[in-house]
Amino acid sequence: SSIEQPYRTAYHFQPPQNWMNDPNGPMLYKGVYHLFYQHNPYGPLWGNITWAHSVSYDLVNWLHLPHALFPTDPFDIKGCFSGSTTILSDGKPAILYTGVYSNDSQVQNLALPKNLSDPFLTEWVKSPLNPLMIPNNGIDPKNFRDPSTAWQGPDGMWRVILGGNLNGQGTAILYQSKDFFTWTRSTNPLHSSVKTNMFECPDFYPVSINGNYGVDTSSQDKFTKHVLKASFDGNDYYILGSYTPQNDNFSAENDFLDSGFDFRYDYGKFYASKTFFDSSKKRRISWGWIAEMDGDANAVKKGWSGLQSIPRSILLHKTGKQLIQWPIKEIETLRARNVSIQEKQLKGGSVLEVLGVTASQADVEVSFDLTNLKEAEFIVPDGVNPRALCSQQTASFRGMIGPFGLLVLASQGLTEQTAIFFRIFKSHEKYIVLMCSDQSRSTFRDGPDKTTYGTFIDIDPRQEKITLRTLIDHSVVESFGGNGRACITARVYPALAIDNQAHLYAFNNGTVDLTISRLDAWNMKKARLVSANI
Ligand code: FRU
Repeated sequence: SSIEQPYRTAYHFQPPQNWMNDPNGPMLYKGVYHLFYQHNPYGPLWGNITWAHSVSYDLVNWLHLPHALFPTDPFDIKGCFSGSTTILSDGKPAILYTGVYSNDSQVQNLALPKNLSDPFLTEWVKSPLNPLMIPNNGIDPKNFRDPSTAWQGPDGMWRVILGGNLNGQGTAILYQSKDFFTWTRSTNPLHSSVKTNMFECPDFYPVSINGNYGVDTSSQDKFTKHVLKASFDGNDYYILGSYTPQNDNFSAENDFLDSGFDFRYDYGKFYASKTFFDSSKKRRISWGWIAEMDGDANAVKKGWSGLQSIPRSILLHKTGKQLIQWPIKEIETLRARNVSIQEKQLKGGSVLEVLGVTASQADVEVSFDLTNLKEAEFIVPDGVNPRALCSQQTASFRGMIGPFGLLVLASQGLTEQTAIFFRIFKSHEKYIVLMCSDQSRSTFRDGPDKTTYGTFIDIDPRQEKITLRTLIDHSVVESFGGNGRACITARVYPALAIDNQAHLYAFNNGTVDLTISRLDAWNMKKARLVSANI
């Protein structure tokens, strides 16, 4: 029951029980969305890594199928690690995944559906030719994994990247194949970075310039830019650039961890994400793993560990300089009762309770109107770490313009609260917008990690309102600032603010008054996640 399981989510994807990490092989096949994921079938901690499999017609309600790949062969006996699906030219899906040998050496394997007329693709057959890619020529055998979705160049050859460590550098190793069985490593990697650790789960795909639609992984023209995403140091980082398939040159505008440059899918807890192209709705969707933050002992007590993010559609922002992400439209089908506030002044130092919503399971959209920007505090942003600023000056700090935003999963009297807020600073001719997610008071329990997150968002507050959308689901708070220009996901484990004891507030702890131009909050219905009787 929810009393025993206050942290189980209602509309975020979770397996029925046990451990989950990376999303794997998302795709659309014959009108059915597929999600595979890294799963331990036998316990709530990482181990026995198997590919679990669920299907959906709407990316909201899911049917859990039997597991798709088990670690049963020499080439994957120590785990069926992460990988991706590719829809081959004849419409047939193929899985490329990493297998681990008993000596920990990692290789890449192929699996194909047993019965293509089954839209659920329940059974998968490992290729008798496995392994197809083995670590050689300087590749560290223990750091050679996570094949991406493959793409096809104009020459008809398939390309795939995987994460590796080459001469101590984080590297997107490139392979090519004519037939998807025989793979040859390219002399040059697609990208390597001196400053990073090993790339995990690299993803490489085009986004259209000035477009409202996603594009297929293999398409490439002068109306697209390419995104390279790599997972390391607990975050999903991306860079943008232009890709020339003729020579497989990826010319990036920045490198990972360049000074003053820090683009991440999410500035909170979000890792090992993967995108796919949804050909039915012409959009690119990403899934990301949101791990627990309350330790192994609690995972054992709960019997489960790990969530997936709400699927997000990804586009290039109209400036061409960064990505924007937004929860897929379908999630709005779960919206129930709506509470709405319009043109409401929020004086400096005040809180406003949003009544009439089940605040432990809600979707909230708010936009703030700032009238008096002149009062903004001065900041020289160079060298300022926004995350450190958010944790030094938390929601209770009395600023000038802000902190203002939402207090979610708050207890009566605000003993417990998670604050998602903004502050506006001035720097020479520009305004600087800071977005924070402050977990420092999220629970009075001692165990959970209460790290505070933050980032600057590239918004000009003279030109546009400051907007925030926050998806609240018992122990996860997924926030989208500036219409999706910055995302911050947090895990929280309140002791008081659970179920119908949770409250929602808007707040302004700055000195300067502001206006809520609009706030909408919806109760969210529970998604149906059921296990198939097969
Ligand atoms: C990322 C990762 C991958 C690996 C998988 C194993 O979280 O470490 O690199 O394939 O998890 O479960």
